[in-house]
Amino acid sequence: MRVLVTGGAGFIGSAVVRQYIAETDATVINVDALTYAGNPESLGNARAHPRHVFEHVDITDRSALERVFREHRPDAVMHLAAESHVDRSIEGPAAFVETNVTGTHNLLEAARSYWSELEGEAQERFRFHHVSTDEVYGDLGPEGPAFTEETAYAPSSPYSASKAASDHLVRAWHRTYGLPVVITNCSNNYGPYQFPEKLIPLMLLNALDGSPLPVYGRGDNVRDWLYVEDHARALRHVLAQGASGRTYNIGGRCERTNLEVVHALCAVLDELVPDEQGRYARLIEFVTDRPGHDRRYAIDDTRLANELGWQPTESFESGLRKTVQWYLDNPEWVERVRSGAYREWIDANYARRGRAV
Ligand code: NAD
Ligand code: TYD
Repeated sequence: MRVLVTGGAGFIGSAVVRQYIAETDATVINVDALTYAGNPESLGNARAHPRHVFEHVDITDRSALERVFREHRPDAVMHLAAESHVDRSIEGPAAFVETNVTGTHNLLEAARSYWSELEGEAQERFRFHHVSTDEVYGDLGPEGPAFTEETAYAPSSPYSASKAASDHLVRAWHRTYGLPVVITNCSNNYGPYQFPEKLIPLMLLNALDGSPLPVYGRGDNVRDWLYVEDHARALRHVLAQGASGRTYNIGGRCERTNLEVVHALCAVLDELVPDEQGRYARLIEFVTDRPGHDRRYAIDDTRLANELGWQPTESFESGLRKTVQWYLDNPEWVERVRSGAYREWIDANYARRGRAV
């Protein structure tokens, strides 16, 4: 099988590529523009493998995408390339519309034109797998039932609105043109190789530096956490087994408040790298909240479990420990991604926030 993966140098995409190369015979065509969030070093041993082909292409470039389809003739597409950070989307939404909406439109059109010329079984078996987020559903109250695939879309941030728009395009390309698609909407991921602007790696690296741990608002927002290797497995499973036109929610069955997450992380650090100045939780500071901050996300993954027999294997405790250990073991990767561009973002984002009121 030949899979065209977009965003394969990012956090989740690189986990997918590493698994395809290590655990299957598939050839991966990795299409990535290498934005600040993309890093070929995250591919590990897969990077130089003969079944891994890297295409340095921006999905906003339609003719480049058409060339990639013509040259590599994939059996399936797994589309992960996106601008993915809510706080950045609040500061600069245009890039999110460009990549997430226009880029997805380009990819759909390039895929449709290629797929329409396939014949027989090749055309029937082709899949366009769009990887999306639970954030398209908006947020939940503290007690309400979790998001199902039938929950109405109500995105809150420029990021989630752009992902919702891309989901709608993918559905429309199925209904109107018959393109065989599957969509997955997943909860918050964590694990190795995550760019340290997201909650868990940011707090982890700040703690190791002895810097403040900036919790937005009161830290009572809830997220449903899934270990990235579990997500990558679920994605491969849905691409192989999912029904055309169907959406599957993927979640970790693991709701935690942000404050619980930060305390759990500090406790693992206290054990693995005790700090002579005291417990890491002393560094927690409450800072100005994110505008429009979604209160709670939770995923009902009954469809995925019942129809495709998938469930996560990693608990939050085991996944968090593996994650901390990975960051401790990979200081070179960390140093390289914390380059000038990263520092500028951190300085701007947290200077704006100041301390809590
Ligand atoms: P990421 O930001 O770590 O990686 C995104 C990758 O896409 C990077 O390698 C980047 O270089 C590439 N990219 C960005 N713009 C591009 C463009 N115009 N053309 C080509 N490549 C481009 O993101 P991630 O956390 O790995 O998320 C991957 C996908 O999964 C996204 O679609 C995201 O919406 C979705 N998702 C993420 C989470 C999460 O918790 N991280 C949860 C659910 C769904
Ligand atoms: P994030 O990792 O940005 O993911 P998302 O917004 O997609 O859920 O944030 C996870 C949660 O952590 C979210 O409720 C915002 C909060 N948060 C903080 O409290 N402090 C921070 O410095 C960051 C980056 C996030």
